Amino acid sequence: MRVGVLGGTFDPIHKGHLEMAKQALLRLNLDEVWIMPAGNPPHKSNFEISGRIQRFEMCEVACKDESNIKVIRSEFYALRSEPNYTYLSMEKFQKDYPGYELYFLMGQDSIDYFDQWVEPQRILNACKIGVFLRSESDASTKERCLQKIESLNSLFSGEIIPIFYCPTAISSTEIRRMIENGGTDEEISQYVTKDVLSYIREKGLYEANKYFDVKEIKKHLEEKLKPSRYMHTLGVADTASSLAFHYHYNDKKAYMAGLLHDCAKYMSNEELLIYCDSNGLEITAGEKKAPHLLHSKAGAYMAKEAYHIEDDDVLHAILVHTTGCPNMSLLDKIIFVSDYIEPNRDKAKRLTEIRQMAFLNLDFAILMILEDTMDYILGNNQYLDATTKETYEYYVKEKRS
Ligand SMILES: [Fe+2]
Ligand SMILES: [Fe+2]
Repeated sequence: MRVGVLGGTFDPIHKGHLEMAKQALLRLNLDEVWIMPAGNPPHKSNFEISGRIQRFEMCEVACKDESNIKVIRSEFYALRSEPNYTYLSMEKFQKDYPGYELYFLMGQDSIDYFDQWVEPQRILNACKIGVFLRSESDASTKERCLQKIESLNSLFSGEIIPIFYCPTAISSTEIRRMIENGGTDEEISQYVTKDVLSYIREKGLYEANKYFDVKEIKKHLEEKLKPSRYMHTLGVADTASSLAFHYHYNDKKAYMAGLLHDCAKYMSNEELLIYCDSNGLEITAGEKKAPHLLHSKAGAYMAKEAYHIEDDDVLHAILVHTTGCPNMSLLDKIIFVSDYIEPNRDKAKRLTEIRQMAFLNLDFAILMILEDTMDYILGNNQYLDATTKETYEYYVKEKRS
């Protein structure tokens, strides 16, 4: 079995990477190419890169129809948090796949610095190296690259093989910039596969912060809310973005929904009734009895009107954060749970268990929160809102099914 290993950050994986893999299959007569997304690339520790799970999933999505291009799943090679040096990965491959003929694949730019990599000789002991050289480069560049390969081949024992091909001019940096600048699907899909583009759009990757300036919102909230409420708000935003990351949701959206969920909480009950009434927001009989519930409805309205949030998912999560609702969206659930478990909370009785459950099963965590909330309300003879009860019944049924 002859295998090429193509490492990289893949942020995002693009058509040029797939082309490289296909060229390597052909030119080195390989049986397979293994894509190895770096968990925490040693050379890029200061760069802002997308989550490793997201980069890994994009690689899987990009290769799903390729029969001989695979994505490495192992925690050892990819996906790990600490820097993963090439020599360690290649030695592990050599050990795990005895008898395989391994090739590490690298780009033209890497060859100039190869002798400065960590343990270059150990890399070459474990595998051969295929270097992609741009066939359209001018004669002197080609000559320089070939000389460099020759000198490395005599400096180290091992084999470095040039692969001449004509790459499509694409870079991940360029793709990220295009998306940040509002590039259309048509433009972006020239560079990434359709499925990768859908993934990027679904997760909201690389988008510029299209929301109102976060700093401005924070400043505004700090002025309006009392200090403990503002601390709670920041706690909810941070928790929401962690949960979003954990459940592969857009963390920027979750952060924004967390930040604004209590934006109307500075108003008294009377002010809430007036605010809703004067803005044409319907006030239910239950809300008349317990006007503090209105801060969600008023908050969603305020997020749109005062903070210019146009995203319906964010607005809905704010709207239902107090009582929940049957069949909540992932963002609704994230905000509902974050509101209960954020680090400044310390009174609820099963807080530790619910915090753990939040990262294991969101629906169970919701059910635990609703159970405890209802216990508390009924035990203290307080008013139980119909939606809270309805939400509880929905999630009890969900748990049973
Ligand atoms: Fe609230
Ligand atoms: Fe809250």
